Amino acid sequence: MATLVTGGTGYIGSHTVVELLGAGKDVVILDNFYNSSPKVLPRIAELAGRAPAFEECDIRDRAGLDRIFETYKIDSVIHFAGLKAVGESCEKPLLYYENNIGGTVTLCEAMAAHGCKNIVFSSSATVYGSGNVSPLREDMPVGGTTNPYGTTKYYIEHILEDTAAADKDWHVCLLRYFNPIGAHKSGRIGEMPNGIPNNLLPYITQVAAGKLDHLNIYGNDYNTPDGTGVRDYIHVVDLALGHLKAMDYTADHAGVSIFNLGTGKGYSVLEIVAAFEKASGVKIPYEFAPRRPGDLDSVYSDPSKAERVLGWKAERGIDEMCADSYRWQHQNPNGYED
Ligand code: NAD
Ligand code: UFG
Repeated sequence: MATLVTGGTGYIGSHTVVELLGAGKDVVILDNFYNSSPKVLPRIAELAGRAPAFEECDIRDRAGLDRIFETYKIDSVIHFAGLKAVGESCEKPLLYYENNIGGTVTLCEAMAAHGCKNIVFSSSATVYGSGNVSPLREDMPVGGTTNPYGTTKYYIEHILEDTAAADKDWHVCLLRYFNPIGAHKSGRIGEMPNGIPNNLLPYITQVAAGKLDHLNIYGNDYNTPDGTGVRDYIHVVDLALGHLKAMDYTADHAGVSIFNLGTGKGYSVLEIVAAFEKASGVKIPYEFAPRRPGDLDSVYSDPSKAERVLGWKAERGIDEMCADSYRWQHQNPNGYED
């Protein structure tokens, strides 16, 4: 039996596939390469010692999904495929609703039609909105999202909950990721942002590589110890390993399970800059800039439920996250095009 990994050539998906293959699981990757490169596939095979099956397909393509479910024996799905750029989602909300929500509905319909009702979904800490105070717990209210991207995650959680409520055969796991950074220790796979990065670590690594002049730090008057925003950064390999634990748990538990995947520790932007400089030996020039609309002071998880229930805990610290981000950038200045 195989696991279908939608979005499996993307940043988090590729790291998760390496861990799944390493654990002896059979994997079928589905991706349309909207935000990834086919060149990641041989690197996944190189790291795992064997290649996953791959199907170029769109999650909105019902006929393509049917063909995949008919070709392989699939008993579970890890669903990463989606668009994730907050700014772009404000400019193109219909694209985000159609791709993320429409795609998930089509995927679930195809799953049900082929008797596969076991899904682990990539949700986000963004579903907690702005009304909760960190540390964020899974039983806190969700909603109040401030951009269409975040709203797609909130709606998809609802859609999967309604689906599981209507049909007791569904096993659904909602994983709320905090801020994934870092890369595989080999430096062979990592994050490949298109254009100017929106997120902090990819921006810093491109400053370190001399591609960008300096970092703009969005706001130094937040209600945090040094005035800059605090987030819960988690190493992408720890996040990937969380999926393996979640998958095993979900196989045995019908209904909906929800877990935060974070470290529980917050770092400010200035602390990240200092950690990155220490790990890389490269100075990161920065300037303070106005706050970015929609940003919050401090967002970090209470990760204790995942530890208690799944037996999963993030092991890799901030120095390792920064060193691994830098190694990936340094070895692949143009991402997979090198
Ligand atoms: P990514 O863009 O690297 O990976 C997503 C993959 O999905 C890409 O390979 C893309 O080509 C593919 N894809 C998109 N739409 C598709 C479609 N219609 N059909 C088939 N493939 C499609 O992003 P990532 O950082 O690896 O994120 C994976 C998931 O985790 C996403 O759902 C994202 O929203 C979620 N998430 C990410 C973060 C983060 O900070 N990276 C945080 C919280 C949640
Ligand atoms: N920041 C800067 N300069 C930059 C980029 C970011 O100062 O160039 C700051 C932000 O203001 C924030 C922190 O760095 O304080 C982290 O910003 P990111 O953009 O890296 O991450 P966010 O926490 O804003 O958002 C991320 C994902 C979202 C997801 C959210 C919660 O990008 O998709 O985590 O999971 F919804």
